[in-house]
Order: sequence, then C-alpha cells, then structure tokens
Amino acid sequence: MGWLEGQVALITGGTGGIGSAIVRRYVAEGARVAVMARDDEQLQALHAELGDAVITIQGDVSRYQDNQRAVAATLEAFGKLDTFVGNAAVFDYFTRLDRVAPEDFESAFQRLFAINVQGYLLGARCSIDALRASRGSMIFTLSNSAFYAGGGGILYVTAKHALVGMVRQLAYELAPEVRVNAVAPGATNTPMKSLEGLNQHSVPLNQIPGFEDGAAQAVPLQRIAEPADHAGHYVLLASRENSGLTTATIIHSDGGWEIRSAGPRKDRKA
Ligand SMILES: NC(=O)c1ccc[n+]([C@@H]2O[C@H](COP(=O)([O-])OP(=O)(O)OC[C@H]3O[C@@H](n4cnc5c(N)ncnc54)[C@H](O)[C@@H]3O)[C@@H](O)[C@H]2O)c1
Repeated sequence: MGWLEGQVALITGGTGGIGSAIVRRYVAEGARVAVMARDDEQLQALHAELGDAVITIQGDVSRYQDNQRAVAATLEAFGKLDTFVGNAAVFDYFTRLDRVAPEDFESAFQRLFAINVQGYLLGARCSIDALRASRGSMIFTLSNSAFYAGGGGILYVTAKHALVGMVRQLAYELAPEVRVNAVAPGATNTPMKSLEGLNQHSVPLNQIPGFEDGAAQAVPLQRIAEPADHAGHYVLLASRENSGLTTATIIHSDGGWEIRSAGPRKDRKA
C-alpha cells in the first residue's frame, strides 16, 4: 500500500522538473493526479508515460478561469480532491532592481507576481470547497528564496518571501478543515525558465555555466538537489495518517542552507 492510496491531487506546473517528480511519486504512492501546466506537448508526454492515473489540463495559473477549469476537470474525472499542490512559477534570472528599466518594472512585477503569487492564491481559492469537503490539504512550493537573499533577483525573492505569509494566513483561515503547508527546495537541477522579456541573457536555470558546482559548494550537504529529492516531503504533507496535525509548516529541502555560514565541517578530511 502506498501512502496516498485512493487520494486525488491537482498539481500545477506538473510537467516541470520538480512538478513532474511530484506527479510521478504521487502516482507511485497510489494517487490519481490532475496535472495543470502551460505546454500541451509536455502534458501529453506525461499522460503517455503515466496513463489513466493522470489527467492533464493545459492552462495559465495566473488566470482565474483556468484554475476553475482545472479543479472542475479534477472533480469530473476523479470525483474529489484531497490535495492541491501549487508549484508553477517562473524565475527572474537573478535580475537586480537597478537592472530593470524603470518603464518596464510595472509590467515585469505584475507578470511575475501574477504567476508566482496570484497563481497560488487562485488555485487555492478554486480548491477550497473541494478540500473542505474532503478535509484535505494544500501544499505550496516555496524556495530557500522565501527566507534568504541572493538565490534570485528582486522580483523572485520578494515573491517567494510573500508566500511565507500566504501559507501562514491560509493555514489560519482554513483550519480546522484544511491543512496548509509548503516545501522550500534549494537549488535544484531543473530547466526553470525566467519571465519572458525580463533579462536578455536569460537561459534555463540548469544551463547556467557552473550552476551545479556552485550550488553544491554553497551548502553543507555538498550537492545540488535533483527534483526527486523533494518529492517525499510532498507525500508526507499530503498524507493524513502521517502529518494530520501539521499545518502552517514549511519543510526545508535545501542541503542545509540555514547553517551554510558555518562553512564545511572543520574535522572533515577532504
Ligand atoms: N529549480 C530550482 O532551483 C528551484 C529552487 C527552489 C524552488 N523552486 C520552485 O520549484 C517550482 C517548480 O520549478 P522548477 O524548477 O521545476 O521549474 P520548471 O520550469 O522545470 O517547471 C515549471 C512548471 O511550471 C509551469 N508553468 C510556468 N508558468 C506557468 C503558468 N503561467 N501557468 C501554468 N503553468 C506554468 C511550466 O509549464 C512547468 O510545468 C517553482 O515554484 C520554483 O520557484 C525551484
């Protein structure tokens, strides 16, 4: 028996690096999963791989109607919703405030926050009734950028910090029926894309020269995360049997980012 036998989840950004690892692990744990993402070809590939355990919804998380359609499709296909996973987001390619042309800032802010913050809130809003009915839970993908500077640029880091407040407030508002938690990954080997038009030098995250080595050296556990490294945390938080009294909790999955300033262990031979 898997930890999520008989459960139903809706995962946004489920074709991406971290999202597809969560989808695969949820299916392996016995769940049926609705996957919402932007790219239809990637959605079809995931469906071909996982079969009837998944349905796919092509849409844009920043739009209310698309979130509403995703929840409706989940209920129609599987009859209920136990877990909403808000995960879709875009990066800002480490772009500093003074590197965004002032006349472009308003649009850049609105577009990134529409996906990374409003997208989570819209998904949550559209899921509330179904999750109350199932006494289910929400899980959001945050980041070490929800707590520390330097892992992104001004827009990404500000948006991820805002989500700490969102998790706490939603957990407060939705108790006792719905638990609300999050996972905060550190640097992960994915092709995470940046907001279109924000930075002309932008490339997918794992194509940045030296990204993997730099990320590994920055943390005490000395390696970059692979997407599957985080997936078990999402299983734990979705499982009523194993985390039924856990809400407003953010699990760090980042190689020890918080203690990195202590440097490598002094007693360890190279
Ligand atoms: N890769 C990292 O180093 C890292 C570190 C910490 C946190 N994260 C977070 O992990 C989550 C997943 O990122 P990833 O690294 O897997 O990136 P990714 O680019 O591989 O996946 C992003 C997914 O989101 C979807 N998406 C993007 N914009 C969308 C939109 N407007 N509407 C619908 N779907 C949309 C894409 O289709 C894709 O499925 C994000 O919340 C990201 O901030 C990533």
